[in-house]
Amino acid sequence: MTSELSMLEDHILGGNMRLGLRTRAPIHPIVAAAAEGRLPVWAVAGTRRLMHMERVADLLEGWAREMGLVGEEIARWRAAGILHDALRDASPGELVHILPERLWKLPPKGYHGPAAAILLRDDGVSDRGLLRAVRWHTLGSKNFGRLGKALFAADSLEPGRAGSRKRREKLRARASRDLDRVVTEIVRNRIDYRVRAELPVHPRTIGFWNSLVRAS
Ligand SMILES: [Fe+2]
Ligand SMILES: [Fe+2]
Repeated sequence: MTSELSMLEDHILGGNMRLGLRTRAPIHPIVAAAAEGRLPVWAVAGTRRLMHMERVADLLEGWAREMGLVGEEIARWRAAGILHDALRDASPGELVHILPERLWKLPPKGYHGPAAAILLRDDGVSDRGLLRAVRWHTLGSKNFGRLGKALFAADSLEPGRAGSRKRREKLRARASRDLDRVVTEIVRNRIDYRVRAELPVHPRTIGFWNSLVRAS
């Protein structure tokens, strides 16, 4: 699905939620539990990680409310924040066994998103926007809808991260009004840093960047 279609899907679903119509399957119990801070049984996350996940969820909830989302949409956004790093403290050696062979070439630090999305799907979660957001929160995706972009931004901008506090505070304040521009700045900074440090930039991140600058 193109990013335009994903965004349209988000828009229509968001609109229907406001009208009280249900076009998405009922929220899965694992997603509802995550929105309340309860993790799946397979999660591997220490105390510091849990605090980061809570801060990301709080930020996403705030943005969702500012965007006019209500009810289960708020729960989805909170759940994305809680679930995205549910496997972050598992070792790549453990996570590789969850992944299909075609994903073994990902940077090992990026294994935890796809692995969590696979286990959520195995548990019956079918919310594609949420799964995509969790799966590619580390590298980005050209197919992100609004939730994917918001999770990517919240993960980078949450107030517990060290460094560039003023810059991140300003971006946080703009995110609900100007999400695409804020995400574009985050990706630009990330690519810029890696190019200057002569580090590789993953093709998925380049694809994400291209989708953002083509859309703006
Ligand atoms: Fe992560
Ligand atoms: Fe994270």
